[in-house]
Amino acid sequence: MSDHNQVKITDMNYDVDRPKAENPVKIMDLSLRDGHQSLFATRGRTEDMIPVAELMDQVGFWAVETWGGATFDTMHRFLNEDPWERIRTLKRYFKKTPFSMLLRAQNLVGYRNYADDVANAFMDRACENGMDIFRTFDALNDYRNFQTVVPKIKEYGKHFQGCICYTMTEPRLGGKVYNLDYYVNKGKDLEKMGADSICIKDMAGLIAPYDAYEIVKALKAAVKVPIHLHSHFTSGMSPMSHLKAIEAGVDIIDTCMSPYAYRTSHAAVEPLVMSLLGTNRDTGFNIKLLARINTIFEKEIMPKYKHLLDDSKMSIIDINVLLHQTPGGMLSNLVNQLREMDALDKIDAVYEELPKVRKDLGQIPLVTPTSQIVGIQTVNNVLFDTPEERYKMITGQVKDLCYGLYGKTAVPINKEVQEKALKGYDRGEKPITCRPAEVLEPEMEKAKEEIGDLAVDMDDLVLYSIYPVTGKKFLKWKYGKEEPPASVKAITMEEVKAKDELIKKAKAGELVEKKKDAPAKGENTRTFNVFVDNEYFEVGVDEVGGSSILKYVQQLQVSGGAPADATVPVAPVAPALAAAPTLAAAPAPVAAPAPVAAPAPAAAPTPAAAPAPAAAPAQVADTDGTPLLAPMPGMIVKYEKNVGDSVSEGETVVILEAMKMENALAAPTNGTVKAINYGSGDSVAKGDVLCVIG
Ligand code: CO
Repeated sequence: MSDHNQVKITDMNYDVDRPKAENPVKIMDLSLRDGHQSLFATRGRTEDMIPVAELMDQVGFWAVETWGGATFDTMHRFLNEDPWERIRTLKRYFKKTPFSMLLRAQNLVGYRNYADDVANAFMDRACENGMDIFRTFDALNDYRNFQTVVPKIKEYGKHFQGCICYTMTEPRLGGKVYNLDYYVNKGKDLEKMGADSICIKDMAGLIAPYDAYEIVKALKAAVKVPIHLHSHFTSGMSPMSHLKAIEAGVDIIDTCMSPYAYRTSHAAVEPLVMSLLGTNRDTGFNIKLLARINTIFEKEIMPKYKHLLDDSKMSIIDINVLLHQTPGGMLSNLVNQLREMDALDKIDAVYEELPKVRKDLGQIPLVTPTSQIVGIQTVNNVLFDTPEERYKMITGQVKDLCYGLYGKTAVPINKEVQEKALKGYDRGEKPITCRPAEVLEPEMEKAKEEIGDLAVDMDDLVLYSIYPVTGKKFLKWKYGKEEPPASVKAITMEEVKAKDELIKKAKAGELVEKKKDAPAKGENTRTFNVFVDNEYFEVGVDEVGGSSILKYVQQLQVSGGAPADATVPVAPVAPALAAAPTLAAAPAPVAAPAPVAAPAPAAAPTPAAAPAPAAAPAQVADTDGTPLLAPMPGMIVKYEKNVGDSVSEGETVVILEAMKMENALAAPTNGTVKAINYGSGDSVAKGDVLCVIG
């Protein structure tokens, strides 16, 4: 950093007046993956990446991260987009910049270890569709989970970037488990496996600047391959950590374009470019080009996503990460989960319980999927444990973890918890010690049989194998077998403008309370959350003469002994649907302002037949069966039993997915299944009657 050239910034022509740095810091841009994943719940659409793609290709990024992490899940589930198509489409615009993806090793782009045949098929398709760099991590830093995917990366001549997930048990680097030796040894392991570069993956923004310096320095001395730092901004330390890492000789840094930067995302590229300008580590980037790209993001793209920004607090720094080491994404998941369960007041208990659960489960790093595993088990403990019994409701994933299906934990799992979790576990009560995928049966053949002709090619089949429930739904949309719901449709700039207009009117007090002679709410009513400064409005919008898009079906009444109706009730769709096309023309009755914290669902879109009231028990009070109620909102994965089957108390009846974790719900009593009220893929609210046992 010594030989700073005194260049005059104001008169500078960035392309010609700048000396070439001896050892430029290379930059990977994350805007198109981790950026929108961190800030906008991964809702970025391919069509909104195209307007900046060609310009971004000109910047000189070492790579752009375009895929992986949550994109695969979110795209097919919420955006009705084929994730494979995104790689192919963007490749047409990025002609020279390599693509990088985040690969969860044997977890691929899902939340569990898949069998080797799925891993091989996925890797073939990712390579053939055009992915160049595979940033590979395992949530437990158990590199046995790399053993299937790495040879594939090599077979295709692609770049294998091995990650070390950065985590701590102390306020700073050190302690018995995650100390400097740990990271250096992991770095050496990765180099031995053939890593082309090594990434320190600091997903929660925990790395302190001087610790970053120490680790980078030590890794540079211990291994030959380039060192890459991925550090989220969450705690506010990352720009300082970047600079210290650069001083220690780091080769590559991750940043975002400024509209996608900060908060739980990453530091912006522009300040780093200016900080290094004229030094021997100058990136060489043209700041004017970056500014041009930013303008497009600001004017043409971001307005469509601003409603997804969490503007509930002023601070862009999350000090909870410093206090509790809870990563930002995990924290917002926990808060959402508690809110949906009307238990937001338990957040402090959750903070207190979380480190205990993590310790019980082997002090594992908190990153997908372990952050969900630890997070949801923590919520379950806080909500369902009693003074007499801990770990009363153990999720399927915690059982898998205890069995060894995710790999080896940094320290052994608490024996008592492990024994309890594995009691009656279907794979066996004795945990395994081998590479997890060795005990997994091949999955592709079975998947092929299940999905049949709906999977037209290998891309479809791999998607289905990883996401059987939502994947099947998506394939039905893709091939016109089912109409996709309004909630998966894109918002257009016209709709954004119409909504802004509405907000302006609301601010000016020009929106009046619902008139007495307002038309009856139709079947097409869609609900919008409208945020005006600190106030929150829920607005119901009815398209005049429009076709029915959403259907709210009355909650099925379970009457004594009668079999369940053949028609499966559709649970009410959560609020915050896509914008309505005729916003301005709509009668737009503005509901009374509700506090942002209110759990808001079901208020506006309530047709005459009241859907799914939260307090379901009353519905079945006079039946002769015992209802099994959803203990939390979620999606039905499958029923293990059919109507007429006999069950004994404690036997699993239904698998409910909540926050991506599967919960096996047990029969509350002995008896016969009298009614099953939902089907695979249905959303349910807390308290919904999932089935009746009599
Ligand atoms: Co990240």
